Amino acid sequence: MTANTVEATLLYTEPPADGSKVFQYMYADPATGERTKNYTQIPVKMDIENLRGKEDSVSLDTAGFQFVKAPAKHTSFASDDEIQVESHLFILTRQPVGGVHVDQTEASAIARVRKHLPAAEVDELLKHRFQIINLWRPISHPALDHPLALCDFRTVDAKTDLVPGVLKYPDSEGETFVVKHNPAHKWKYVRGMGPDELVLIKCFDSTKDGGVAIYTPHTAFEDPTSPLDAPLRESIELRFLVFYEE
Ligand code: OGA
Ligand code: FE
Repeated sequence: MTANTVEATLLYTEPPADGSKVFQYMYADPATGERTKNYTQIPVKMDIENLRGKEDSVSLDTAGFQFVKAPAKHTSFASDDEIQVESHLFILTRQPVGGVHVDQTEASAIARVRKHLPAAEVDELLKHRFQIINLWRPISHPALDHPLALCDFRTVDAKTDLVPGVLKYPDSEGETFVVKHNPAHKWKYVRGMGPDELVLIKCFDSTKDGGVAIYTPHTAFEDPTSPLDAPLRESIELRFLVFYEE
């Protein structure tokens, strides 16, 4: 732990020993209050560097995430009804996610495109580069409580660290990656991100050129430097489907 780095416990995944496909329910079982799953979470202490003051040292195509200063024009997020859904934008509201994960796999990214865009356009769109970008921002007050930690894509070994997992919704299924511990992972956050700031997170990029970030493991964490009386974190996340013409 240095002036710019905190040490915190992150929940990595140990997949089922019998090799069966990882799954987790999206919503907690009312009887247990838990999200049923078939894998074990391993708490690991990791250093997380505070990029406050050097937010510009990372970008979507290098680390897989990018910090932006941009006050929200819309400041009331009390219900889904108050949030206008644009045609190429979808909104998730849900419980905070407990462990290190990547929101999309290639298969679920393609499934998202098929779900949200007209069938007649999809085949053409999928011939070109596309991305899914998550816009995450605090609302109401600075997110000192349980900030979001992001893992630099360049320190992720996709072949060994990422394990596809089924996310079970009441009447559908999605696919995300859970993440196995790798001591090479370099974690970053910005302490006390305010409602006038946001972070863009690369969930998926269809580019295959090797040098560009494709996905970004992330998780909420308990920051040992956050004041005990910090108000509970409130944040919103939006997903953008981004299509390229060339
Ligand atoms: C996300 C996400 C977790 C959190 O935005 O994809 O995993 O704690 N958020 O906000
Ligand atoms: Fe996520």
